[in-house]
Amino acid sequence: MSISIYPGSFDPVTLGHIDIIKRAAKMTDVLIVGVLKNSAKRGLFTIEEREDLLRQVTKDIPNIEIKSFDGLLVDFAKENNANTIVRGLRAITDFDYELQMAQTNRALYEGADTIFIPTSIEYSFLSSTTVREIASLGGDVSKFVAPYVEEKLKEKYNTK
Ligand code: COA
Repeated sequence: MSISIYPGSFDPVTLGHIDIIKRAAKMTDVLIVGVLKNSAKRGLFTIEEREDLLRQVTKDIPNIEIKSFDGLLVDFAKENNANTIVRGLRAITDFDYELQMAQTNRALYEGADTIFIPTSIEYSFLSSTTVREIASLGGDVSKFVAPYVEEKLKEKYNTK
């Protein structure tokens, strides 16, 4: 059985992430979306909230599991018997960092390899940071996130 992990901060999950999730889910028996717990990034949504957002927006995809993790990604991969790590590439600027991370992970653990999926062009400029900024200023994020996430952003920023 092939088990893959798509890790990230998902603060919040965007349509760009969903695009990668849908495409990756077709390539594997089980896709575990792993929410990083101990990120140095200051979070808007709690880990539980991020997991809830991910569950809601992926509920129609049958082979998805949402989990959170801390520590090393490779340890999370080992614990879950995952043989593939999935990462989206938005632009060439992502590549240096992603290549370094993939090579480091492979040096730490040979049991899982990284595959890169190019983000669809319409989401190549998107990031969770820009979504948070637009939402915090009362802007329209409906082109960037699912309706459920849009609602939760409005609640967070009191812009309902
Ligand atoms: N479409 C749109 N945006 C996307 C995207 C896509 N397909 N893919 C990523 N992004 C955005 C995210 O929204 C995020 O935006 P932000 O910086 O504004 O928040 C940014 O790209 C990158 O985020 P993400 O993909 O979530 O990665 P990350 O850098 O936050 O986390 C981990 C990467 C979790 C894989 C990495 O930190 C990790 O493995 N940590 C565990 C510790 C470890 O093992 N360290 C050793 C690794 S070598």
